[in-house]
Amino acid sequence: MAGQTNGVFSVPYELAVVRPLRQTTELERQAALASAHYNTELIPQEFIYIDLSTDSGVSARSTAQLALLSAAEAVEPGMGLASDGSGAYNRLAAAIQRYFGFDYFVPTTQGRSAERIWVKINVKPGSVVAGNMLFPSTRTHIQMIGAQIADVISDDAHNFTSDEPFKGNIDIAKLESLIQEKGAGQISCIYVELSVNSCGGHPVSLANLKAVRGIASAHQIPLFLDACRILENSFLVKEREPAYRQWTLADIIRETYALVDGGTMSALKDLLVGDGGLVFTRDRALHQKAVMQSFLDGVQLSAGSMDSIAVALAEMLVSESHAKQRVEQVSYLWHKLAESLPVLRPACGHAVFIDLKKFFADRTPPPFAAEALAAYVYLKSGVRLTKGPPLAPSQIARGAELVRVAVPARKYLNGHMDDVAKALRDAYGQRHEIKGLIKIDDAARSKYDPAHFVDI
Ligand code: F0G
Repeated sequence: MAGQTNGVFSVPYELAVVRPLRQTTELERQAALASAHYNTELIPQEFIYIDLSTDSGVSARSTAQLALLSAAEAVEPGMGLASDGSGAYNRLAAAIQRYFGFDYFVPTTQGRSAERIWVKINVKPGSVVAGNMLFPSTRTHIQMIGAQIADVISDDAHNFTSDEPFKGNIDIAKLESLIQEKGAGQISCIYVELSVNSCGGHPVSLANLKAVRGIASAHQIPLFLDACRILENSFLVKEREPAYRQWTLADIIRETYALVDGGTMSALKDLLVGDGGLVFTRDRALHQKAVMQSFLDGVQLSAGSMDSIAVALAEMLVSESHAKQRVEQVSYLWHKLAESLPVLRPACGHAVFIDLKKFFADRTPPPFAAEALAAYVYLKSGVRLTKGPPLAPSQIARGAELVRVAVPARKYLNGHMDDVAKALRDAYGQRHEIKGLIKIDDAARSKYDPAHFVDI
């Protein structure tokens, strides 16, 4: 029938540019690991086969993004305060209005520069921010202001084995009692992270966000999003929340944004660029402040990156095939691992998380278990894992230990995922060989320097 799509279409790309990889020997990897002080983060890229340390800023660009990048950089100056004079800004503004429904936004260099600005102008010292296990950079910016964070995520987020579909949800009772206890005036904002990165990438349902919206409106508390993984969240809403099954992804994304007053977004994840962040708001005065703050902080985004985001948005939302392939690839890896390893349930959209306490349940966990597992997997396979983002205080209090296997969007083939699954299954089978690491204390190194270890 005319207009009907072919039923077979699992990967909506073909390879246009490639970066060749060289196969390394175990001896070479042993040497690379020793030079990197057994910290996989420090291994040079040329010795890595598959890099699953992050899904941030490492996705492949499309041919249209690459073409525009150099064209825009060549003709557009950096953006001053007069953003309307920039063609790239105007093109991005049109895309943000169309796909996200916001009239006001500020493009920044990264998610964390957006957070720094947004938190600075919205969070009062001594106040409280209610959140759902916010990402470490968001938490740090809130704490730097002198405000506290109340983690009101649902208890399901701490249950690694159950199959609740929306473990990122806010616990409405916890939120209401926080407001009762502190008083609405003491709460600067409710900040909801979609696809919660610290606890398995679990999504937030739109029913939950609507309930939070109701409470925020009733108490006149601003409601903000950390929307950097809104695509995965929206895809999982469509899959798991019956009311949205017939909706388009683009409509779910707009509906999600429509529920909030503003927020922040790193562009390095879903927007498929190497740098970029967004502040978005409906409030003209807040927008003006944010523009000035980004100017003062020196974190304005280049024209090329603005164009690249606008192109990515249009390409990504013209059909659902990108989001589908993205989430299904993570699910493919998750299913392969879940057959034999203790992974956090259920699957999410950007990473697979391993429960280390269960991984080493039949023996005493090795010292620095996450780093030791990553070093072992690297040695045997060339696959880079890292510990992942630092855990939230509520996870540390419960003694959680996780390793995140982050899958960059449209970078790897399922053949790569097969190799990752094999490497992890082999490591699980040989877990008695993982003896652990000893951290080197060196007075000359600051606590912010990447850790150095020796092998036990
Ligand atoms: N919020 C979330 C949920 C994130 O995952 C990140 C970054 C940020 C904010 C900060 O954005 O990197 O552009 O400054 N996450 C990366 C990761 C680092 O590997 O998960 P950024």
